[in-house]
Amino acid sequence: MAGKSSKAVLLATILQGAFAVIDPWGRCGGAQCTGTFTPISASAYIDSLNPGWNLGNTLDAIQNEGDWNNPPVVPSTFDSILASGFKSIRLPVTWAYHFTSDSPTWDVDPAWLQRVSDVVDQVTSRGLKALVNVHHDSWTWADVTLANANITQIEEQFYRLWFQIGTKLACKGSSVAFEPINEPPGTTEAHGKEQNRLNGIFLQAINDAGGFNPQRVVTLVGSGEDAVKTSQWFEPPDAKFKNPWGVQFHYYSPYDFIFSAWGKTTWGSAADKAALEADFAAIRGNFTDVPLLLGEWDASNTNTETAGRWRYFDFLLRTAAKYNIPTIIWDNGLDHFDRAAGKWRDETVLKILQSAVKGDVNALPDSTTDTAATSQFSSAFVWNKVGESVKAVSVPYLFNGLTLSSITDTKTSKALVKGTDYSVEGSNVTFSSSFLSTVYTSNATGTLATLSLKFSGGAPLVVQIAQWAPPKLGATSSALPATSADLLIPITWAGQNRPAAVRAIKSDGGILIEDWTQYLGPLQQGRMTYENQWNWDQGNVILKAAVLDAVRAAGKTTAFTFEFYPRVEGNVANYTITV
Ligand SMILES: *[C@@H]1O[C@H](CO)[C@@H](O)[C@H](O)[C@H]1NC(C)=O
Ligand SMILES: *[C@@H]1O[C@H](CO)[C@@H](O)[C@H](O)[C@H]1NC(C)=O
Ligand SMILES: *[C@@H]1O[C@H](CO)[C@@H](O)[C@H](O)[C@H]1NC(C)=O
Ligand SMILES: *[C@@H]1O[C@H](CO)[C@@H](O)[C@H](O)[C@H]1NC(C)=O
Ligand SMILES: *[C@@H]1O[C@H](CO)[C@@H](O)[C@H](O)[C@H]1NC(C)=O
Repeated sequence: MAGKSSKAVLLATILQGAFAVIDPWGRCGGAQCTGTFTPISASAYIDSLNPGWNLGNTLDAIQNEGDWNNPPVVPSTFDSILASGFKSIRLPVTWAYHFTSDSPTWDVDPAWLQRVSDVVDQVTSRGLKALVNVHHDSWTWADVTLANANITQIEEQFYRLWFQIGTKLACKGSSVAFEPINEPPGTTEAHGKEQNRLNGIFLQAINDAGGFNPQRVVTLVGSGEDAVKTSQWFEPPDAKFKNPWGVQFHYYSPYDFIFSAWGKTTWGSAADKAALEADFAAIRGNFTDVPLLLGEWDASNTNTETAGRWRYFDFLLRTAAKYNIPTIIWDNGLDHFDRAAGKWRDETVLKILQSAVKGDVNALPDSTTDTAATSQFSSAFVWNKVGESVKAVSVPYLFNGLTLSSITDTKTSKALVKGTDYSVEGSNVTFSSSFLSTVYTSNATGTLATLSLKFSGGAPLVVQIAQWAPPKLGATSSALPATSADLLIPITWAGQNRPAAVRAIKSDGGILIEDWTQYLGPLQQGRMTYENQWNWDQGNVILKAAVLDAVRAAGKTTAFTFEFYPRVEGNVANYTITV
């Protein structure tokens, strides 16, 4: 092992671009592997990932595996993901809290390297591909946008980290690929250029580490892993690196639907589809001859409306396929696959995904997309208001050339009788009042029956026969507290146990937050953003501290309207904060 100062000199040499061809550290760089490595092109590799699944909020948790919402990963999770039809696992890994020394060696805890190596083996031994990265380090030491960022030190640490990861994983087969860093912050061309440099340093480090790494596929990234910034600033790596490479980007758009902002609780209009397609066409247009990978995308079960989510899944996956872009869905452990139960929270999204990836057409539920609408319907539900007489209900579908073959009650397995229990006219499925009366037998709220609809092809869909009443809050007002903290307001749910949107209007009639939303439609004006401004738990709706700060800044009593599904008149609960 060379002394510290000579290491520093060697490292400086490396970073200046006079790249060493031998391992400068005298450790296990230049690893000699005994196994075999079957070389694969970047395009063949990236195609083979489709569809993929992200092991989110796990090895990337801050500070350790298990510290966030997921317990440490168990191999049976990968069995379930494989059985669900996925071909690859992206393994986000945060290294920031596993360094055992600082400059210039930046040693990584060998136990953490071993843990990552073991999880990689759990993935690949099942025949799944594994994509390993450096994840939330981009929020901490590797953030090149911070005013006090020491770029030399970031490059040094980045090289040392990837040299050690590269050494540990040097002899893994060609089913393992690397991604230099997750969503590296960047707002300027200079940041974009620095990311290009970091891509080169990453390639140098894994090549120096040796083994099979010089032949390993890598998915390089641009600033933010954002399609637009990557298109603007990404430059191919130095041709001296022989690694097969593609470009990875992430897509969470449109922001308002994916993150439940400004009352946008549906997706699927012609304009929505055109915007998504334009984004995919633009990145493909910038990378006509480069394999592209969509390494993260999502419309979470937690907060998106069901019918909108199903249409989003279907259209995004078909559009990605059209532009030859394999996809890896983000799953933070709460979004989709329930790891504890070993089940998908919404089986329908999985079936839509499986069918769309195969290129099979899906029938889909229709819902309101008109921005001028004053109420909303979603054909993933049939709703009745408690106390109202039961009437026949028509729900429209987008059959997409398929025909409805059967409807079954998932609990009793009884088939509904066409002509008696339901009928099909044009694209409407109409449930008869006589059938619905067998479901609405009490004033119970929430989902009372779940029906499975099968079609002549594609994914089956479900319709929840549900009942609602306006939920009641434990209090209707409070005085603005002296200091802001999240305000938890107890709620007795009475339908779906989550709000759809939250509106905030000041006593002078003005909008509390984001005044510009006045230009949106009636279901969007004055509505705030999920997580940043509102949330909920089992027993409460929550106004975030930032909202109380806004009330304080405005100095005005503010009326909050919590709106629920279905978004129809009266399905709200009001709360006032007085100043
Ligand atoms: C930046 O990092 C390098 C490498 O660790 C170090 O030599 C240098 O002193 C640092 N510069 C500042 C201003 O801290
Ligand atoms: C490249 O990407 C930019 C930014 O998204 C876009 O404006 C441009 O149209 C794209 N170019 C092509 C040829 O698609
Ligand atoms: C259901 O609610 C209505 C009022 O909405 C009430 O008149 C009726 O008695 C309730 N029925 C039952 C079975 O509780
Ligand atoms: C479908 O149902 C809607 C109400 O949901 C109704 O307005 C429309 O006329 C129906 N169309 C057909 C063809 O029955
Ligand atoms: C809630 O407040 C709005 C006015 O902001 C009012 O129109 C509505 O009737 C109220 N609803 C309930 C259930 O109190």
